[in-house]
Amino acid sequence: MVSAPVGPLPSPGGRGPGCGPGPRPLTPALAALPQPLLEWETVILPLVDGGGEATRDPRVGQSEAALKFKGGCRGALTAGTQQADPGAPGGFRGDGDRRPPGRGVRFVGVNASDINYSAGRYDPSVKTPFDVGFEGVGEVVALGLSASARHTVGQTVAYMSPGSFAEYTVVPASIATPVPSATPEYLTLLVSGTTAYICLKELGGLKEGKKVLVTAAAGGTGQFAVQLAKKAGCHVIGTCSSEEKSAFLKSVGCDRPINYNTEHVGTVLKREYPGGVDVVYESVGGAMFDLAIDALATKGRLIVIGFISGYQTPTGLSPVNAGTLPAKLLRKSASIQGFFLNHYLSEYRASMDHLVKMCTSGDLVCQVDLGDLSTEGRFTGLESVFRAVDYMYMGKNTGKIVVELPHPVNSKL
Ligand SMILES: NC(=O)c1ccc[n+]([C@@H]2O[C@H](COP(=O)([O-])OP(=O)(O)OC[C@H]3O[C@@H](n4cnc5c(N)ncnc54)[C@H](OP(=O)(O)O)[C@@H]3O)[C@@H](O)[C@H]2O)c1
Repeated sequence: MVSAPVGPLPSPGGRGPGCGPGPRPLTPALAALPQPLLEWETVILPLVDGGGEATRDPRVGQSEAALKFKGGCRGALTAGTQQADPGAPGGFRGDGDRRPPGRGVRFVGVNASDINYSAGRYDPSVKTPFDVGFEGVGEVVALGLSASARHTVGQTVAYMSPGSFAEYTVVPASIATPVPSATPEYLTLLVSGTTAYICLKELGGLKEGKKVLVTAAAGGTGQFAVQLAKKAGCHVIGTCSSEEKSAFLKSVGCDRPINYNTEHVGTVLKREYPGGVDVVYESVGGAMFDLAIDALATKGRLIVIGFISGYQTPTGLSPVNAGTLPAKLLRKSASIQGFFLNHYLSEYRASMDHLVKMCTSGDLVCQVDLGDLSTEGRFTGLESVFRAVDYMYMGKNTGKIVVELPHPVNSKL
């Protein structure tokens, strides 16, 4: 059984351009928090109002203390964050520009594996109740003593950490990546971007002219696999479920989007790629996995990123034609390899820094889906996380699904 995609990460390598304002004195509410807090590491809180009673989570150690604020922390922050620019790629003007302070917001990311994690599939030894959510972007509102050398209150940081579906969270300073602004585009890099980047760099063997198939190509991690393979000079094929997603894929450089609701993926691959595909970034599993195996070129490789088509079943798995697999692989000298981000954390810090630079310079489209087109509108507040998960499992999202925690948050904790 695998463990959660979180863990200790190398120290941040300095701050990015346009980080939040410099050190600020603790507000009276923060100063009133229990003193041991000051010995802990970075405290990252969104902009929240409300009276604050802090409780420490007994399941985590001193250096990774988790903190829940019952009712939040009144007046904890007043600083604003830079706002998204709808006219820029991915809705973001990423040149490190400073904007007049606006209303601060914080974002948390939704991942396909949220349902695996909450179903206890990552670590059966973890018993309910436990916190869920893998990632977020927000502002530092208080610092532990050891964290204050590297971070400042008001600084905007992104973090991959368990229990991120919360208005307030505490994360070790070592896993907080400074980002130019608390915009959701940076959040897309934490899990989805690094998965594509590290996987393709370490396992992809990408070279100019190689044919790369990406499944769930218009989703959170697929969008990055498409762009990174294209940047490596590859010919990129991407599967998706709608014409809108096909158009998006074209816009980020996908050479051959395949809308599987109007075209049969296997037929297209046989007809247009008779020599097969060299690399598959495969996230869907089941029948899609079988099709992709059949489409492999000689010496082709399929990288198992996930198998989302099985996550809603009791086992979490979708059946594949495993019986014939050895023969199929042997006949083509082909290979299958799994990739799990948690096993590549030594690469994480450098990859994240690189991706943040690409995003900031506009070299990478970081498509965000805040649910504006969903039936009940934008995903706002923690209470909308379940809608966001449903939206993903209906295959509706284009890009990374992100939930906004606006100011003020009506904390239910
Ligand atoms: N190995 C790792 O370390 C790692 C890290 C991050 C993510 N992942 C994996 O990457 C995959 C994508 O995750 P994500 O969080 O980025 O999600 P996502 O791609 O943003 O959303 C999931 C997409 O999967 C597609 N899909 C195809 N068949 C589906 C089905 N039967 N049910 C639901 N969706 C289906 C849908 O797109 P279409 O409708 O266009 O097909 C849907 O929009 C998942 O398998 C996840 O487990 C793995």
